Amino acid sequence: MPVDCFTERVAERYDASEAEMFAPAVVAPAVDVLADLAAGRPVLELGIGTGRIALPLGERGLRVHGIDLSPAMITRLRAKPGAERIRVTVGDFARTRVPGIFGLAYLVFNTIMNLTTQDEQVACFRNVADHLGPGGLFVIEVGVPALQRLPPGETIRPFTVSARKLGFDEYDVATQRLVSHHYSLVDGQSDGFSIPFRYVWPAELDLMAQLAGMKLRERWSGWGRKAFTSDSTKHVSVWEKPGR
Ligand SMILES: C[S@@+](CC[C@H](N)C(=O)[O-])C[C@H]1O[C@@H](n2cnc3c(N)ncnc32)[C@H](O)[C@@H]1O
Repeated sequence: MPVDCFTERVAERYDASEAEMFAPAVVAPAVDVLADLAAGRPVLELGIGTGRIALPLGERGLRVHGIDLSPAMITRLRAKPGAERIRVTVGDFARTRVPGIFGLAYLVFNTIMNLTTQDEQVACFRNVADHLGPGGLFVIEVGVPALQRLPPGETIRPFTVSARKLGFDEYDVATQRLVSHHYSLVDGQSDGFSIPFRYVWPAELDLMAQLAGMKLRERWSGWGRKAFTSDSTKHVSVWEKPGR
């Protein structure tokens, strides 16, 4: 089982420290796209967290099941209105099997990178394919590795700098690992934590999908469904399991 980085200390501040990700202008476009792709079919969220996306999908009448490693994050989800509609399984989304066949599985907010080895990321694609019915879709939202922004010889890049929040990514190009260091000020108190990731390229994800028997259907630069280009800093990709 991977290490649970979203401990009580991280979970209790997650919604406040990621407040901009909970803004309706950020959540609504993601929920619109996911609801559209689900087309009424059951939905599986990998790394459901405190329910930022799952709860609004549940409100739209979709049947949502989530997997998460962190009991502390799930406790926060469980305390929110509408959580009674969401089923949750504690486990590693690379390998945990839950009952049911799904029309859509999704992994948002860079969470594929929480799997810190290529083997785990490949296992995750295979696990998703095992949960999807024919014509089922797998959606990933993840940043493009920002290596073009890393000056030669440097390993640290700031990803957020404001009066209340500082974030630095520390890259190791030899291993494709990075560590995100977060420092924030919440209710006048400062806090810091670091989370290990494995960054992953769009083409590498396509190969993982192929290994799992899925094929790329869409790649957008974001939830607005605009074209993905060489200037895009993130992508929302959709792979399809054949058979419908
Ligand atoms: C960045 S948070 C995203 C939460 C939620 N999806 C959101 O968009 O707000 C990542 C979540 O993935 C969970 N997670 C990370 N690695 C995991 C793994 N291997 N298996 C299951 N959950 C995992 C964490 O516990 C955390 O709740």
